[in-house]
Amino acid sequence: MEIHSRVADLRLALKDRGRIVFVPTMGNLHAGHISLMTQARAHGDTVVASIFVNRLQFGPNEDFDKYPRTFEDDCAKLRAAGVDVLFAPTEADLYPEPQEYTVEPPDIQHILDGEFRPGHFRGVATVVLKLFNIVQPQVALFGKKDYQQLMVLRNMARQLALPIEIVGGETVRAEDGLALSSRNGYLSPAERAEAVRLSRELRRIRDAIRAGNTDYAALEQAAVAALAEAGWKTDYVAVRQQSDLKSPAAGNPPLVVLAASRLGSTRLIDNIEV
Ligand code: PAF
Repeated sequence: MEIHSRVADLRLALKDRGRIVFVPTMGNLHAGHISLMTQARAHGDTVVASIFVNRLQFGPNEDFDKYPRTFEDDCAKLRAAGVDVLFAPTEADLYPEPQEYTVEPPDIQHILDGEFRPGHFRGVATVVLKLFNIVQPQVALFGKKDYQQLMVLRNMARQLALPIEIVGGETVRAEDGLALSSRNGYLSPAERAEAVRLSRELRRIRDAIRAGNTDYAALEQAAVAALAEAGWKTDYVAVRQQSDLKSPAAGNPPLVVLAASRLGSTRLIDNIEV
């Protein structure tokens, strides 16, 4: 696996590499990331991953400084997964000057996670567009665990006519159902055992909807109450339309249930399609 940190070196390395498939990450890779790397292989000739903890998408009181950085381990996992090229820029490589030109997503950036993480999706869209311009992939893969992020990026690619196919990868879960996330590493053993409750509550809502329950507000409130009872502080549990993450309209549109909740000091997100 080739590793490049400088934009110019990466551009040179990616010349004449055929169809490029790109998987951007912030590192601390787990089986969810590796599953994206493996899927990437089927979409083109050269698989490029990136590792960059993007300051722009973290709020002032969020975990930018303590976000786990495990570069050597990550490289070993990427090599084993058959990744061809890793782009691992420093902040000075990617942001040699203050990033004043940014991508401003529309209203979707202010709902759900965006309500609780102001500026987050601007930071994500900006870095991903910049990475796209550097890597120039034909295909890019993102995990469905970050459902709203995937939608923001898919809409960005479509509306800005980027010649890039955006592919969503299924969420990879631990045996007990907890969605894999780099932030799971913050959990104490007791919190880790408790963490499964989030996916359990989402499944409970999904099953109730499948069984014909359409009182979404009551389902959401019951989940918030069950989480609170077990010590969680919930930002949202929300039943939304898969197409645009708005509240369900009439006519049985495909739905997704999304949640963000804090266990101790760790904020976990998860979602499940109905
Ligand atoms: O999902 C992530 O890891 C990040 O938000 C991304 C897409 C790599 C942008 O920094």
